Amino acid sequence: MKLSVYFGESLAGHLESTAEKGIIFSYDYSYLNSGLPPISLSLPLSDAEYPQKKCLPFFEGLLPEGDVKRRISDFLHISETSTLKLLQELGGECAGMISILPESESNRTRNSYDFSLDNYEPLAKEKLSDYIKNINTRPLLKVNTQLRLSLAGAQEKLPLVYKDGEFCLPQNGAPSTHIIKPTGQGKLSNLSANEYICMKLAEHSELRVPKTELMRIDGSEFLLIERYDRICQKNRISRIHQEDICQALGVLSDFKYQNDGGPSLADICNIIKTKTSIPLLELRAFLQYVLFNFIIGNCDAHGKNYSLMFQDDSVKLTPIYDTICTLIYPNLTQKLSMKIGKHFEIKKVNCEDFAILAEQFGLKPKIVVDTYCELVEKVSRGLDYVKADPTLSNHGETIDNIERNMLNKVVL
Ligand SMILES: Nc1ncnc2c1ncn2[C@@H]1O[C@H](COP(=O)(O)OP(=O)(O)OP(=O)(O)O)[C@@H](O)[C@H]1O
Ligand SMILES: [Mg+2]
Repeated sequence: MKLSVYFGESLAGHLESTAEKGIIFSYDYSYLNSGLPPISLSLPLSDAEYPQKKCLPFFEGLLPEGDVKRRISDFLHISETSTLKLLQELGGECAGMISILPESESNRTRNSYDFSLDNYEPLAKEKLSDYIKNINTRPLLKVNTQLRLSLAGAQEKLPLVYKDGEFCLPQNGAPSTHIIKPTGQGKLSNLSANEYICMKLAEHSELRVPKTELMRIDGSEFLLIERYDRICQKNRISRIHQEDICQALGVLSDFKYQNDGGPSLADICNIIKTKTSIPLLELRAFLQYVLFNFIIGNCDAHGKNYSLMFQDDSVKLTPIYDTICTLIYPNLTQKLSMKIGKHFEIKKVNCEDFAILAEQFGLKPKIVVDTYCELVEKVSRGLDYVKADPTLSNHGETIDNIERNMLNKVVL
């Protein structure tokens, strides 16, 4: 089986599964001479073939994970481990500028698409609500057999377009502009509200954040998040490249937690120092993300919840995303995805850990302490806005719960 890998509208290379070597990736000869960048920091431009161990983390990292991957595989009658078959079914519209297509469909993809009925099919709100209600029988990424949509993560998602108050599904390889994340079930039924509250707190803390709305249609609650890896200009929608830290480091999604061998804060600092365009600016931004996630009690900020963005020859961190207060769910672990200083246990992090953090970031300890104090203050002010937000009128208890669990009292 052989698939074509596109970077925007350029054929970047070929992904092949072979009996002898498993999965291999090789750049297309014309791409190597085109002046375009590598598709991943873990796959530098080279005329040598990339073996499975080197290329799988990037490509498998484009696919959904956990229960969502399992249910899509069952739905499509494909084995969960058949990465290429899953990419063939889902990989048309991925994170960043990657599109993966069967070889027979080559030369059809573009990077920019007109927002027209040829490329986008209107999706009625009632239909969207049906899709969300029937998630258990049909995964969102496959609500329609023709759709080839993929995003990482273990939560259900639907990439689509939201324009002038209307929803549309992309067709013919066109990009989406937004992501829908329905709320969880049972004990996680306030998950969307939780993420919305935390995104609002991030916004009030002046972090880079994508625009996020909490919506309800016909009793179904979901998050509507604007994609930071898409731009819409003059009725044309285009892709911008991004990859997450696990992809950039060549780490499989299964190992996204530091304790399982995944990235640590020091690893990410190292990428930022060596690969971003203005490392000092990005290190400061990353420090804010890490301390913000700590303050709001988010233990799930793993290596796929931080990403890099590549735009106009500049490399920087993406806006913060997937921020939730995990501490409000007593059944979830209180162990951090990446240790801060010497501690994985979020509630044990102390001022000595902040000093270690400063060293890893190559910043003065005072900067870490000041950043923490500033964020505590901004988050606390943000809570006043959140409490007055009319979309959260049914979620007072969740707001209180998040406030109670905040880690805003580290003795410095
Ligand atoms: N606003 C956004 N713009 C562009 N890409 C995004 C945005 N938000 C998320 N993504 C992409 O989608 C992926 C999955 O999103 P997210 O982390 O929110 O999902 P999740 O299922 O909640 O993840 P997890 O398994 O960590 O709980 C991210 O890793 C990132 O690549
Ligand atoms: Mg995530």
